[in-house]
Amino acid sequence: MAVRKTIQVVPRARRTLTSLRNLGYDLRHAVADIVDNSVSAYATTVDVTLHFAGTRSWIRISDNGHGMNAAELTEAFRYGSEREYDKTELGRYGFGLKSASTSQCRKVTVASRADTPGATLEARQLDLGHVDQVDDWEIFDLAPEELPEAAYSALREGSGTVVLWEDLDHLLQYQDPTGGWAKKQLLAGAADVDQHLGMVFHRFIAGEVPDRQPLRITVNGTPVEAWDPFCRNESSTTALQEEDLEVRTRHGNGIVHLSPFILPPQNQFSSPDARKRASGPKNWNRQQGFYIYRGNRLIQSGGWCRLRVLDEHVKLARISLDFFPELDKAFGVNVAKASVTLPQELRDLLGPRVSTWSKVADAVYRGKQPSNTPPKRSRPPRSVPTQQAPASPSVPKSNDPYRRDTPSNKPAHPYTPLPSPQASAASSQLPDTEPFLARQALEAAAAQTGETEALSRIVSTLRSMSPEVARDLGW
Ligand SMILES: Nc1ncnc2c1ncn2[C@@H]1O[C@H](COP(=O)(O)OP(=O)(O)O)[C@@H](O)[C@H]1O
Ligand SMILES: [Mg+2]
Repeated sequence: MAVRKTIQVVPRARRTLTSLRNLGYDLRHAVADIVDNSVSAYATTVDVTLHFAGTRSWIRISDNGHGMNAAELTEAFRYGSEREYDKTELGRYGFGLKSASTSQCRKVTVASRADTPGATLEARQLDLGHVDQVDDWEIFDLAPEELPEAAYSALREGSGTVVLWEDLDHLLQYQDPTGGWAKKQLLAGAADVDQHLGMVFHRFIAGEVPDRQPLRITVNGTPVEAWDPFCRNESSTTALQEEDLEVRTRHGNGIVHLSPFILPPQNQFSSPDARKRASGPKNWNRQQGFYIYRGNRLIQSGGWCRLRVLDEHVKLARISLDFFPELDKAFGVNVAKASVTLPQELRDLLGPRVSTWSKVADAVYRGKQPSNTPPKRSRPPRSVPTQQAPASPSVPKSNDPYRRDTPSNKPAHPYTPLPSPQASAASSQLPDTEPFLARQALEAAAAQTGETEALSRIVSTLRSMSPEVARDLGW
């Protein structure tokens, strides 16, 4: 075949960079994307500071992760930077650092020290004012003494990275960026960032992610508290059975892990404060539905992804749904990592489950309506489950899709299922879904009537009297 003639058409820096400032980030998503990088760099501490000083206000995110050497730091500033990712990593497109930063500011400085012996401090700066002048993809290579004070003052002894945003034109759009409104806006931003990070990284902060130390995040010096959407420390929360679904799509195959929870009705929370905190940033009604995690980081909080409508009566249902980066394409993860679209193959599997969860949630919700009756106990308080990346993209973690992740956090639940090879098929194929739903409904009903012990005895007897039936139900 003849060699076709090509012409190189290089994007214009000024206009391209300006449009790449608008990829759908708001402040909290932008900060979370920078924190993703810290998490990927195995940081155990991330400090976020929002400092108001009129037009000289700044935002800084500093970590104690493994840092970058000179070449890595330069590459980090490239749009579409190249790197190998392992499958649990949060990065993806090689855009976050640049696009999240420039969505908020016109000047981003990054200083970093790698975790290798004798590593020196390296610093680079992308200044949109300069790009406007030269219309080229240039960054500054800063000597340590050229670093802005706000970056310099956050540098640690060991390895780590500091990201500093200055010239916050998007955040301080007020006619008077030195005035009270601008200051209020920045303070409100700090509260918003605090809440968002506590939600998005709650598993990391609470130390639930395998092989990782707990992550400490501070915002303006105050530690961020993990927000558990499922209120697992409330004894009246009902944990329905977990499940692994094997999802095959034309964009790749992988495991999706489900953990459904029904939160306690109003009168069964341990305190009014606990209930208020459980309502979440968007409040009860809009926090029902799916909590979608990618690599243990929350991407979507609440909503039913068009599988049903939001409804006061099912507001107690919150479902944790985990997927890993091998399904990124199938889930249509966007650059800001702020939303996903469930692949149709998964929607088909979820449809009947959503009806079951909704029925249970509705029953729990209605159970409280007439009542002055004492709260019913659901499951005994369970220990916090650890969510793990599946061992391989297409192989379930074990033959038993209903098993709990690790022996240490198996709930003290009397009818934890037996390993059952048939059960693994039940989780992933629609024709076998009915026995699973029957079992889930029985378990939920037992939990709601406080009869889990009785169900446990029934299951034991069933296993010896009619083992096939027990197996079909996944017990
Ligand atoms: N805090 C950090 N610590 C160590 N390396 C970082 C940090 N922030 C960014 N990097 C490096 O810069 C690269 C580009 O980051 P980014 O633009 O966010 O894209 P992505 O995270 O999708 O790779 C990362 O892949 C990583 O190698
Ligand atoms: Mg990133």
